[in-house]
Amino acid sequence: MSLQRPCLYIHIYSLALVMILVLGTATTDVSGPPVNITAVLGHTATFKCPNQESGIVTRLYIQRHDKFINGFDLNRKLDHLIPPEYQNRTKVNQTALSMEMTDVTFPDEGLYKCIIYYGNPIPSKPFPEIYLKVTAKYSVPTIEKQCSERKNGDGAAGKSCQLSCSSTGGYPQSAVKWAELNPSLMSVVHNESSEDPISKTWTINQTITYNCDHPINVSCAVDDAVSPTITICEAESFSVRVIIAIVLVLVFVMLLLLVLVVLCCRRHQPEDPRDSDDENAVPLALRASES
Ligand SMILES: *[C@@H]1O[C@H](CO)[C@@H](O)[C@H](O)[C@H]1NC(C)=O
Ligand SMILES: *[C@@H]1O[C@H](CO)[C@@H](O)[C@H](O)[C@H]1NC(C)=O
Ligand SMILES: *[C@@H]1O[C@H](CO)[C@@H](O)[C@H](O)[C@H]1NC(C)=O
Ligand SMILES: *[C@@H]1O[C@H](CO)[C@@H](O)[C@H](O)[C@H]1NC(C)=O
Ligand SMILES: *[C@@H]1O[C@H](CO)[C@@H](O)[C@H](O)[C@H]1NC(C)=O
Ligand SMILES: *[C@@H]1O[C@H](CO)[C@@H](O)[C@H](O)[C@H]1NC(C)=O
Repeated sequence: MSLQRPCLYIHIYSLALVMILVLGTATTDVSGPPVNITAVLGHTATFKCPNQESGIVTRLYIQRHDKFINGFDLNRKLDHLIPPEYQNRTKVNQTALSMEMTDVTFPDEGLYKCIIYYGNPIPSKPFPEIYLKVTAKYSVPTIEKQCSERKNGDGAAGKSCQLSCSSTGGYPQSAVKWAELNPSLMSVVHNESSEDPISKTWTINQTITYNCDHPINVSCAVDDAVSPTITICEAESFSVRVIIAIVLVLVFVMLLLLVLVVLCCRRHQPEDPRDSDDENAVPLALRASES
């Protein structure tokens, strides 16, 4: 007994050593660049482990920072090894050799590793790692314009417009793009991007000035979120002037007509009513003086 015990311990220790060596080689052997996958913040990521051999997979470990996340072993349950933060949001599919992760957060972004065993204690040949990229959708940008008249050198009237575009809640950091505007005629007045310290998402805000002589339909985009389209430099000032001129002419014409009508009426008005009034007035006055 006393001789067998140390023997058993040595056995266990050497087994453990072999395991450590095996895991050690497994964690350093990666081949090629990582496979990139993306997931939207709060949504689900699916890690598909590359199956490079045709044998039956007896064990699958998915690791991050060399720590076990989830997996399976045909010979034993691994549930108790799953770290608490992954217990409720990861699920392994044995047939697909994949793992689903729900409620993806920014800290989940990074490199993951699949370690596959085909029956023997040594894992498969080197495998590519999986890089999870977490993205968040930018809100539909708001677009605002403020245009004012601008006189060209040759006297033609154009406009100078200040355009603002703003979008929030996205990740990673992005930039504003303007559709239908000539970049060489654009000058950036204000360019701001700020990260929310808690949610880690970005707010992007840009203001530009743009000079134009003809109507342009313009929209701005941040990532794949596109603002509504607005029209700048529309021929509004011209039509407004024309409308004002027409109104003025109409008012003048109407005034003229009014004056003519009044003059005509005066000329053709019979003098009799006033005369008859006078005639009535006189007898009344006479009657008054008589009484
Ligand atoms: C994965 O993304 C990185 C940048 O994040 C890029 O350098 C690399 O080429 C991508 N790999 C593949 C296989 O597309
Ligand atoms: C996982 O979910 C169960 C039941 O919904 C809950 O009791 C447990 O606390 C959760 N574990 C973690 C680590 O959130
Ligand atoms: C596992 O993956 C296989 C193949 O992709 C699929 O047919 C099956 O429905 C999946 N099982 C579960 C439980 O999701
Ligand atoms: C605006 O700022 C962003 C982030 O700082 C930058 O990537 C972009 O190039 C800037 N754009 C201009 C026109 O300065
Ligand atoms: C964007 O910048 C403009 C100009 O500085 C400012 O008026 C506007 O409030 C900003 N919008 C947001 C959402 O930060
Ligand atoms: C802008 O859009 C309006 C309505 O969609 C359209 O009628 C007009 O022709 C467009 N103008 C230009 C310059 O593209």
